[in-house]
Amino acid sequence: MGNQMKVGIGTAISRVDGREKVTGAARYAAEYVVPDMLYGVIVSSAIAKGSITAIDEDAARSVPGIVEILSHKNRPGEAWFDRSYKDELNIPGTPFKALHDSTILFSGQPVAVVLGKTFEAARYAASLVAITYQEEAHNIDFAVSLAEKFLPKKKRNTYHPPKTRGEPDKAFDAAALQLHEEYHLATEHHNPMEMHASTVEWHGDGRITVYDKTQGSQGVQAYIASGFGFSKKDVRVVNAYVGGGFGSGLRPQYQTQLAVLAAKKTKRSVRVVMTRQQMFTHAHRPECTYSIKLGAETTGMFTSIYGDATTSTSRFENNMEDIVTWGMMNYASPNAGGEYTVAPRDTYTSADMRAPGAATGMTLFEIAVDEMAYKAKVDPLEFRTINYSEIDAMNELPFTSKALREAYREGAKAFGWSRRTPEPRSMTDGRELVGWGVATGMWDAQFSKTSASAKLSANGHLEVACATSDIGTGTYTVMTQVAADTLGLSITQITAKLGDSDLPTAPVEGGSWGAASSGAAVQLACQAVGKKLFKAAKGLEGDPFGAANFDDVEFVDGHMKLKGSDVAGVPLTTIMRSSGENSIEAEETASSGISGMISMMKKARNTHSAVFVEVKVDEDLNVVRVTRVVNAVAAGRIINPKTARSQILGGVVMGIGMALHEETFADVKLGRWMNHDYAEYHVPANADIYDIEVLFVDEPDPEVTPLGVKGLGEIGIVGTAAAVANAIYHATGKRVRSLPITIDKLLELEK
Ligand code: MOS
Repeated sequence: MGNQMKVGIGTAISRVDGREKVTGAARYAAEYVVPDMLYGVIVSSAIAKGSITAIDEDAARSVPGIVEILSHKNRPGEAWFDRSYKDELNIPGTPFKALHDSTILFSGQPVAVVLGKTFEAARYAASLVAITYQEEAHNIDFAVSLAEKFLPKKKRNTYHPPKTRGEPDKAFDAAALQLHEEYHLATEHHNPMEMHASTVEWHGDGRITVYDKTQGSQGVQAYIASGFGFSKKDVRVVNAYVGGGFGSGLRPQYQTQLAVLAAKKTKRSVRVVMTRQQMFTHAHRPECTYSIKLGAETTGMFTSIYGDATTSTSRFENNMEDIVTWGMMNYASPNAGGEYTVAPRDTYTSADMRAPGAATGMTLFEIAVDEMAYKAKVDPLEFRTINYSEIDAMNELPFTSKALREAYREGAKAFGWSRRTPEPRSMTDGRELVGWGVATGMWDAQFSKTSASAKLSANGHLEVACATSDIGTGTYTVMTQVAADTLGLSITQITAKLGDSDLPTAPVEGGSWGAASSGAAVQLACQAVGKKLFKAAKGLEGDPFGAANFDDVEFVDGHMKLKGSDVAGVPLTTIMRSSGENSIEAEETASSGISGMISMMKKARNTHSAVFVEVKVDEDLNVVRVTRVVNAVAAGRIINPKTARSQILGGVVMGIGMALHEETFADVKLGRWMNHDYAEYHVPANADIYDIEVLFVDEPDPEVTPLGVKGLGEIGIVGTAAAVANAIYHATGKRVRSLPITIDKLLELEK
């Protein structure tokens, strides 16, 4: 096998699915070609609330090539009777079920699907479906909905209520320095590049295969089985490639429901794809208002933290996020507390979007922290170290690791923070004001029980498989590298399979637990194959491993060899040949209890980051450019510095969008989102992005997860928008407390 490029854990290799993606060989849900497939085009509700009184389908049905029009009036009866069925996110309330009845719950709700032999016929006919509604009064104005805010009795099981410590009110009243301000985040939509799509292949024997845009094939499989009268073994869900998710694919979206209903109705294969506009009719990050009260001593030491936040939800479900807890966990204030409520409006239910809760709550809190630093006349970075907590201050738990101090230090050094002059408006570059801001990021380091298989063939090729998803995060690559590392193989000798409900059990890809979880499962499966190889090696001629135990051997360059020996050892293909087997395989499950690697002691498990931002602001036009970002991340062990950096880059770009661009506007009169396309919903474009530097600080943590990996999908966005907001204040002296910071808000402050 000779010399091989190092490819294992810790190596910056390019993603193994890169070629498939750039050549178009990677197929997405709407790209599977199935014989005799019908094309389904969704008709969306024109009203926000009320009911359907009549559907006139005559004109639509007369279009050549139209096979069926599905609505609540003729949908298959056996599906959807169970309105109490919950998907795996378990959001309290009644999950939306497309075509269930005549009730309209939100604008853009799917009310019919036109099924045609061609997409063009279906699209044209869909425009001819005439629906009559009985309208009711609606509200999608978040400010108005606040009058109805409440704390749901039944909580979402991922929700963590704030735990009060000390007497925050009393301490605030007595504080030498006080801050009490309202912060706000606009509604945002996920907008992955790939639209939500489902291609249902109707096999005609009771089985269906669903090519679905989802972050979890097995979640969708369970959902279809329990909601649509299939037995689980008859439903296979494939999501081999996912064109971005950001959380919009955590729960099955309504195109999956429609495609399955339509396939059942017509007993044919069906594809349903949402339009970009329809992508604005489901998941979105909730709008948030967050009142923050901070008390501090003149030295800048916090004496009190108090937050009161409300996020938006729908009328039919109570989506909840952790908003007020992040500041309480991160800073060592003797007194802290918080309140949280949700406010219902007549939209689809808000949803998890990249770092749900933290991207909102930690970010807005970090703007308040900056304000208090100025009140205390302490450098904002210094202020954060004065209030540094070695433990999770809210839950009073030690961390498995917290290298945030190192992130502050190394980030500041790379950024050149020491050259900052403290006064707002004190730094300029030509006609632009220059501002430098800092913020802290924090996210969960989670691990989720995952299984994987490994199969070594006689020719030395290894296949590792797991039902996890790769939503663009690099899971294929991580699985390949962990396998290469464990069995000493090169990348070209390994195939990673994922994105298929037939593969070993894995959770939905979310919460940044993917690499830690599927990585650990792949490692266990490969170790099990290694043990079987070791046993098989006992049959080798001359018994070269004689008295050795499994712990005495290692796998290097396609060989099994004695540890420490300078002899190359025996090629795995030789061991395979002598075993007489065509393949050696194993399936293993990584759960939190394995090999005692995860401590039984209750500890806090989190990633941290320090984000440094430079902005340049045109003083006359108030145009903001984010000219430099340094994001220093403490995330445990880094499996692949290249794909890891890409995750942080993506998070930072999304954070810049949160700071300056992203906002879904409500047309409160029509009850619908106004800017429902890429032309009007602004995200950062190439011209908005300048220099972004990503640093990973050394944070060895064998306790946090089996591989010591903390996960990187989400931490990059947390805090970034606050660092931008804080830099804008430093540049201009203008404090904008509502994200995104658009030009009009800066102009407003000039008056
Ligand atoms: Mo993420 S919001 O858990 O996809």
